[in-house]
Amino acid sequence: MEYKYLTQEIKNKIDYFKNKYLVKEQAIIPSLHVILEVYRDIPHEAVRELSEYLQVPEADIEGIVSFYDMFRHKKNARHHIRLCRNLPCHLAGSKKFLKILEKLTGAKAGEHSPDGKWYIELVECIGSCAIAPAFLINNDLYDGSKIKTEQDLKEILDRYE
Ligand code: FES
Repeated sequence: MEYKYLTQEIKNKIDYFKNKYLVKEQAIIPSLHVILEVYRDIPHEAVRELSEYLQVPEADIEGIVSFYDMFRHKKNARHHIRLCRNLPCHLAGSKKFLKILEKLTGAKAGEHSPDGKWYIELVECIGSCAIAPAFLINNDLYDGSKIKTEQDLKEILDRYE
């Protein structure tokens, strides 16, 4: 098999784990870290190649990728916005918020902005219903009810390089 994503350098690193563990499956997570370091995400094709290289079922690797938050198939943006879409936040206007966020960042929900700076994710309740519509930028929690204008939101976004 010709490897497009598993370069020789990556394979050399993976070999270390392949040889270290008796059970091949134990090499999956450290190998995914190696891939993540290089690509900043886990390309689907890389999963296929890793499955071949480690001789473990592709489904086992996909199971791990979907279980752990750090192993995303999507590229990691510099800043990750998580906007709650559950009922209290929805009623408080999260949909309108999303529209403005999309306009200001150039990213769509579930996608990256073209410059790779932003990623917007719609999430379930983040336990901050009292400040609906609530959203996080990376680990910073924001009270949407205090943001009255598009300019207010722009000023918040401008804090992030
Ligand atoms: S419903 Fe949005 S934070 Fe709880």
